[in-house]
Amino acid sequence: MRRSSPRNGHIKTFAFAPGAQLAEKYEIVSLLGRGWEGEVYKLRESRTGIEHAAKFFFPHRNPQDRAARFYAKKLHKLRHCPILIQYHTQERIPFEGQAITCLVSEYVEGELLSQFLERQPGERIGAFQALHLLHALAAGMERIHHLHEYHGDLHSKNVIIRRVGISFDLKLLDMFHWGAPKPENIHDDVCDLIRLFYDALGGQKHYARQPAEVKAICCGLKRSIILKKFRTAGQLRSYLETMRWE
Ligand SMILES: Nc1ncnc2c1ncn2[C@@H]1O[C@H](COP(=O)(O)OP(=O)(O)O)[C@@H](O)[C@H]1O
Ligand SMILES: [Mg+2]
Repeated sequence: MRRSSPRNGHIKTFAFAPGAQLAEKYEIVSLLGRGWEGEVYKLRESRTGIEHAAKFFFPHRNPQDRAARFYAKKLHKLRHCPILIQYHTQERIPFEGQAITCLVSEYVEGELLSQFLERQPGERIGAFQALHLLHALAAGMERIHHLHEYHGDLHSKNVIIRRVGISFDLKLLDMFHWGAPKPENIHDDVCDLIRLFYDALGGQKHYARQPAEVKAICCGLKRSIILKKFRTAGQLRSYLETMRWE
């Protein structure tokens, strides 16, 4: 018998097969990805053929169903922020004697930012393209900060991108709940955005040779200096739109 849970009882994979039926409503199309909290599959609603993404939470990452409930409520609260995936519904399904939660959301076509960067020559992009990426991220995050909310887990595996002309069309996944929103959570998001920019440019190895305009944004990744310049994603967005080139 196939067992997905090792002795400590922690499920490592749900290993749903394509075509498997779920909650008498959906069928599994394919595995989309796996992370710290769970696995995400593409689903098809049997009656309509409509496709969704569904995040299946590992129970040990979702005690009392809190992670799933917070994520759903936050996605719902922020449903008018176009950079976030749209929440649809939740299902509780039995799995190996436990009840697990699956959070059904919009399926996003595109590529993870991490995979996009790995495909680039030298696994990095140039300053001008990286500025476009940062601008798209900051403009999207601005709406979230404006509502006094935060993302909480901004990194290149939680960003799905599609390139459109000179710019990036982005969706953010996988917010993390650190508790009621505080200014520090918003500051962490700002620092994470700048970290994404820095990494996209090739990180520490290429930092010394970056143009002054790039260094003025990255501030050597020093949190206190970054936060003196940009306290919210909106301030970063507006800086990018008005900065002077030497
Ligand atoms: N709505 C979605 N559309 C397409 N792919 C997705 C979607 N949500 C998640 N994925 C894929 O699944 C992976 C894990 O999802 P994520 O929500 O980040 O879970 P975790 O909290 O476990 O990191 C993502 O990195 C991405 O590759
Ligand atoms: Mg993730």
